[in-house]
Amino acid sequence: MIIDLAKIIVAVRKLEEGKLVAFPTETVYGLGGDAENTLAITQIYAVKKRPINHPLIIHIAPGADINFWAIDIPQQAYVLMAKFWPGALTLILKRASRVSSIISGGQDSVGLRCPSHPIAQTLLRLFKGGKGGVVAPSANKFGYISPTTAQHVRDEFSNMSSLNSVDYILDGGQCPIGIESTILDLSRFTTHGAILLRPGQITIDQIASVLGELPQKLHNKLFMSSRTSGMYESHYTPHTPIIQVTIDKLLNVLMYLAKCNFVVTLIQRLAGLPLSDKIVTLPVQAEQYAHNLYATLRSLDQKKADIILVEALPETFEWQGINDRLRRATFSSTKILSSLLIA
Ligand code: TXA
Ligand code: MG
Repeated sequence: MIIDLAKIIVAVRKLEEGKLVAFPTETVYGLGGDAENTLAITQIYAVKKRPINHPLIIHIAPGADINFWAIDIPQQAYVLMAKFWPGALTLILKRASRVSSIISGGQDSVGLRCPSHPIAQTLLRLFKGGKGGVVAPSANKFGYISPTTAQHVRDEFSNMSSLNSVDYILDGGQCPIGIESTILDLSRFTTHGAILLRPGQITIDQIASVLGELPQKLHNKLFMSSRTSGMYESHYTPHTPIIQVTIDKLLNVLMYLAKCNFVVTLIQRLAGLPLSDKIVTLPVQAEQYAHNLYATLRSLDQKKADIILVEALPETFEWQGINDRLRRATFSSTKILSSLLIA
């Protein structure tokens, strides 16, 4: 990958001036701001239209001092960092008091991630000499699909007034992974162990190979005390109604929808229906599927069909992150449209 250093330097200056910069990571594009600048942090919530109690992740450079941001760090966090950083794993730790509580939505924890994407890494190494932190949620409006190209970011924010907008976009082409990082909560490790808040490309069995046991899944009791990604059952949602259909029901559902004269688009994997401008085939392997998923959802959303059908996927570990996103993307439509699936 060619890295345009001059552009990264412009982005560093903007961040140091308190402005907002969108940049590529290996997962999705982030909307970055200085983690030590309250105005910049507030601006991120405003631009994304994000509820202010929905916490932000701080991105740090390789080798940065995590004790600056977090306290009471369990030994297991260091082992996980040694194995998976830089990379697509976000660790939730106890928040150091110097970290603004606006970042964590008022909670006593903080999310930290050291991305592996060369543009993100260079940005973080240069920003405040590698000692700063960049808060960066995915660079989309709250609830919509995360961006995996610079054009997606432009599409999200192009209509905004210059007073309330993204100041600069670093273009790094398409993000290699394509879905957001795995989030593991270690902030209550001594009492609750490791808790998986969001599955991603780094799977729970990979984490277990380091920790010696599978992380816990988030359950209702834990919900009460933390506000996390898992709170939102509907998220990553296209504007077009979207449902998942198992391959055995697919033909019946398609025939039924055709009888109703609905315009249907389909993301298939194994179904083998003839391709058209309305039927997209995504790869059989989970990694390649994830890489293409969000761009496909965005382009099908633009077709303004009546419905997007998605062929249901395997339930093995490697598909967990993708299934999580599709479950949230389809959540509200499924509630309303499930009777169609009995067709
Ligand atoms: O891959 C990623 O993680 C991307 C790239 C840009 O790094 N970022 C991302 O950020 O997905 P965002 O804000 O869209 O999602 C971060 C999730 C949120 O759902 C938030 O609830 C959770 O992380 N989170 C952040 N800090 C937390 C904390 N202290 N406790 C619990 N959950 C936290
Ligand atoms: Mg997001």
